[in-house]
Amino acid sequence: MIVVSGSASKSLSNTLAEETGCALANVESRRFPDFECYVRIHENLDGEEVVLVQTSYPDEKIIELFLLQDAIREFDIKNLITVVPYFGYARQDKKFNLGEPISAKTLVKHIQLSSDSLITVDIHEESVLEISEKPTKNISSMPQIGAYLKNLAPDIIIAPDEGALELAKIAAEFTGCKWDYLEKIRIDGETVEMKAKNVSVSGKKVAIVDDIIATGGTIVKATEQLKSQGADEVYAACTHGLFAKNALPRLKSVCDKVISTDTIENETSVVSVAKELAKALGY
Ligand code: R5P
Repeated sequence: MIVVSGSASKSLSNTLAEETGCALANVESRRFPDFECYVRIHENLDGEEVVLVQTSYPDEKIIELFLLQDAIREFDIKNLITVVPYFGYARQDKKFNLGEPISAKTLVKHIQLSSDSLITVDIHEESVLEISEKPTKNISSMPQIGAYLKNLAPDIIIAPDEGALELAKIAAEFTGCKWDYLEKIRIDGETVEMKAKNVSVSGKKVAIVDDIIATGGTIVKATEQLKSQGADEVYAACTHGLFAKNALPRLKSVCDKVISTDTIENETSVVSVAKELAKALGY
């Protein structure tokens, strides 16, 4: 097997190649003066099983992903597995208003076209993968996040809402602590409180886990609430650290630690999903 890295997933591709003992292809990717994308694979991929790794965020990485898939297809390869660690557009997973596309399905449909299979990591809504005519697999970073959190010894791992409870549960099993989720309680017309459903956070070290941190609004609010309810320390952990709209400084001002994985490579990417990916690839 040979790993081909898109420019959005260089560090993860490197770690994946190390983890599996596979070669990493030499890939050239640059922009023309008009910003159109140019890619070239400086490797003979004939006869190879190829794993292409490219996060589909921001938008310019999507066209690079398509070009790389077709550059790979120009060789006489055995098969192509496309890994999209952070699957952009996954949150538009339904038609919320008449006239909208289901953007998540649009992306799945087009990405699977040139691939023999597709692997994603903690995709926001797994069911959108069902539109693919090729095999798909969604893996979770939560075992690795849980293992990392173990060093910080939280008393509880909390999901910011009931929908993310399963993520908190998996992480907590690997950390060896309790898990819970935050329930929204309406106090009056203007005030909504977030409170752990089943446990008291007073005097506790709490880790909040979620699939995505985008603007950071959810986690900042949750952290403020947990601290006002007596939590000693609050850590924020997510698979995909988008950190839009300058979210990171705001998060750092309230959270005791902010961690994410290498599905989106940034300064908080202290957890790698390479081990889980290697397992999914049969290593
Ligand atoms: C929502 O369903 C997701 O799981 C995240 O909770 C959400 O995307 C976080 O967004 P933000 O960081 O902008 O509050």
